[in-house]
Amino acid sequence: MVRARIVTPLGEGGARFLPDGVIAVDAGGRITEVTDYGAWEAARRGRDSTPGVIDIRPLALLPGLIDLHAHLPQLPNAGLGAGLHLLGWLERYIYPLERTFDREAAASLAPLAFERMASLGTTTVVLYGAAWSSSLDETFRAAEAHGIRLVAGRVMMDRTSYRDTPPDQRLGVELGESAELCERWHGHDDGRLSYAFTPRFAVSCTPDLLRESAALARATGAYWQTHLSEDRDELAAVARLFPHARDYVDVYDLAGGLGPRSIMAHAIHLSAREVRRLADTRTVIAHCPESNLFLGSGAMPLARYRASGLVVGLGSDVAGGPTLSLFSVMRAGAYTHGLLRVTTDTDAAARSAPISPLDWLALGSIEGARALGIDGQVGSLEPGKEADMIAVDPRLTVPVPGAEADEAEELVGRLIFRPHPDMVRAAWVRGRRLEDGRRQGPSAGERPEAARPTLVGAAASHG
Ligand code: GUN
Ligand code: ZN
Repeated sequence: MVRARIVTPLGEGGARFLPDGVIAVDAGGRITEVTDYGAWEAARRGRDSTPGVIDIRPLALLPGLIDLHAHLPQLPNAGLGAGLHLLGWLERYIYPLERTFDREAAASLAPLAFERMASLGTTTVVLYGAAWSSSLDETFRAAEAHGIRLVAGRVMMDRTSYRDTPPDQRLGVELGESAELCERWHGHDDGRLSYAFTPRFAVSCTPDLLRESAALARATGAYWQTHLSEDRDELAAVARLFPHARDYVDVYDLAGGLGPRSIMAHAIHLSAREVRRLADTRTVIAHCPESNLFLGSGAMPLARYRASGLVVGLGSDVAGGPTLSLFSVMRAGAYTHGLLRVTTDTDAAARSAPISPLDWLALGSIEGARALGIDGQVGSLEPGKEADMIAVDPRLTVPVPGAEADEAEELVGRLIFRPHPDMVRAAWVRGRRLEDGRRQGPSAGERPEAARPTLVGAAASHG
């Protein structure tokens, strides 16, 4: 049992806040109980054996965060190229990096990246790799060892590519290598690792590659991910390359690429028709507001999309976004939404209610889980779910002593708007502690059990 503050969105909507709560996790990493400590203790009184309780207060337990969109090979260039727009930035900062992202590069970067994600609170990540299969094998192996929940795919390009495959062989190579990776990794470790067929975006793919990769995703039950409507120059290129499509969404629709297992990153500049079509097909949007600000791509009208019934979660889009932190992504999203509320005169929905800190937390957890179709397993701290969660230290976000925030909205608001690099103290997937690169032990004055809580062991001792 762990005694902590507990803040969680709920699968059926709303949120739960236990200022003094307990959570139990069984030996298989599943949550068995989430309740108020006083009530739990009263119910135990008089019983012979009481399970050991690890008290980590004032730390708070939250569900692990879900990053629906990031590019592993791009991490070394995060934060570089400010001022460039998408297409120029890809040429200058991204393709050269991905071209050299081979097996060795992946073997050294992936473990570090997963540790960094855990240290920032991400327990599930959906990644693009580079165009080399061996780098994807290394990435999946690293995730297998680390414990993070991973969806990943080898990026596919057959119209333009940084690989030297002869043009007449590109389609076959892209599809064949991706299908082999899917066969090896999709569903691995009881579904903790999944494959996503990953055509980069319409600009670098032929209609054949889009269509055939979507068919493979359907046949295997894997995901299908790509970029959609991110940048004005990209839109112009897509209109030129696909003259028969009605609009950008139609390019993917004609390929059979829409549906609940399809994840579209960005989706900023959409017409009402495109929004309707995405909503009708339950296609998933990975909202990447920090990237959209960094690359000057635009402002996605989140409120309007949600009012239209679109399925939306959050993505860091590293290195389009400069940081892997979903708290940082939430902050960028909140500022973007706030600005749209006062500048979009014609759009009643965009001027609608504010999006609260707990709503942002839900977007980064339960909504992300819903987007991936895994909300029955993760995304909130509720009995029956797998224990994907994080412990955060709200003390590190307090501006001056005595200004602590005790309400859930305010506590989470501080995590989003006054983040501290060390505020995520621990992360677990299925109750297993994730390595976060900070094993040097607690700093002075810190209770060791607060810095290094373990869960499965604690629960197992309760028998
Ligand atoms: N569109 C196509 N490729 C990319 C990429 O790597 N990053 C972003 N942000 N957009 C893309
Ligand atoms: Zn991206």
